[in-house]
Amino acid sequence: MKPAPSLPVIGVMLATLAAIAVASWVAWRWITPDGGRGGQGGVMRAEMDIGGPFELVDQHGQPVTDKTFRSKYLLVYFGYGYCPDVCPTELANIGAALDILGPKAETVKPLFITVDPERDTPAFLSDYVANFHPRLTGLTGTPEQIKAVAKAYKVYYAKADRPGEGEYLMDHTSFVYLMGPDGRFLSLFRGQTDPKTIAETITRFMAERGAVTWLWPQPAS
Ligand code: NI
Repeated sequence: MKPAPSLPVIGVMLATLAAIAVASWVAWRWITPDGGRGGQGGVMRAEMDIGGPFELVDQHGQPVTDKTFRSKYLLVYFGYGYCPDVCPTELANIGAALDILGPKAETVKPLFITVDPERDTPAFLSDYVANFHPRLTGLTGTPEQIKAVAKAYKVYYAKADRPGEGEYLMDHTSFVYLMGPDGRFLSLFRGQTDPKTIAETITRFMAERGAVTWLWPQPAS
């Protein structure tokens, strides 16, 4: 017959369980932009395996990696410069969200990653991104590098098969990803999410992050 656990042992067990429950609740609140109070138009809430290391080239021809942007929140959008409507709309929304954030936007870095590296050279992107926001960075790379980063972000893209047209179009998924200052995925916005919602979600993450930094270990660099 086993001896019954002593009172102090039970006390420690209960305290441990309580600590785990609190940590889970805080973590859950923290990964949901609306603090777990239910859904919100255009915002998807989940902890997802999205993002990761990448090696690309910016619009100035400088090599960059995911680590280049550590300590900034990232708004990441995949598209292509010849896109007639969807991409310009989303990039304009990102620019508008940054304007709404005002000074807080200094810690937010918007990235446009091309799915059409054939045409979106650094020189092309340099002119292109300037149309949308002065802080928008355009990223391109080899077809292999683009394939790798698109896979990491679970982005689908392909040349659209429309024979007879001179300029080809690209099919591609259209989400705006919000990544944390440690490079981790925080949230994603469906196409045509209004800039105010994007700005509010980022503001909420910034506010909640301060209280729970102990849940946010910095990755080894
Ligand atoms: Ni597009």
